[in-house]
Amino acid sequence: MWVVVVWVIVAVVVCLLTMCSPFIANLCTDFLPKKSGTRDDVHYFGFPMPSTDIYMRCFDTHGDKKDPSRNFNTSSCTKLDYNGMAQCCPELLELYFSDELCSAAAEAMGVEKLYLNDPQVDVNCIFLRKYVEGDHLAFHYDNNFAIGTRYSAVIPLHVTQNNTSEFIMIDRDNRIQIMPISLGQGVVYNGWQIRHAITGQIQGEERIVVVVHLYDNPRMNLWGKLRKKARDLTYKSLSL
Ligand SMILES: [Fe+2]
Repeated sequence: MWVVVVWVIVAVVVCLLTMCSPFIANLCTDFLPKKSGTRDDVHYFGFPMPSTDIYMRCFDTHGDKKDPSRNFNTSSCTKLDYNGMAQCCPELLELYFSDELCSAAAEAMGVEKLYLNDPQVDVNCIFLRKYVEGDHLAFHYDNNFAIGTRYSAVIPLHVTQNNTSEFIMIDRDNRIQIMPISLGQGVVYNGWQIRHAITGQIQGEERIVVVVHLYDNPRMNLWGKLRKKARDLTYKSLSL
């Protein structure tokens, strides 16, 4: 009788661990310290600005305001994903979800070719982020569920004069590096390797950026798909 009970307990524990393993793997890659990089691992490139500012109104109608009280105060901003952009400001998709952006970022990174992800696979393959008073992003590593390396391109679209919301990174010597990005410029970096954050915004100021994920191979294997499902659940429940 006791042998059966022990086997049932072992089976339940194994099942639970198996179900939790994508979540545990995501936690490890998101937070366990890595070697990080240097300022030179964040690559700058020039890119045209949009000819319209219609996207500024899209946050009110299609944006997702993050609730920092649900995520241990690690993330506060308003986000507009691919679907919101497609409905409200498709002209921005034309400009930034493009071969031209892939080429500019690939050239800056010194890699042969970079690819966009499929919005049907990841609705966050491109998104806008707006930082107003109190908004910020705590230090983190980006996740990557693809077979290849994922790079993040960040391009500011609108920055008010006294903006305090800046892209910063911690380098491999544990020093905080401020990485200013001017309008008409973008940066591209391996966010899985480089620990980075966005500093807090003050009253009356605003910063809007477009973020595009680029891959040398965006395909996912089964493990990547499970981890992405786990990430989507986590993001939803923690308002990330
Ligand atoms: Fe990030």
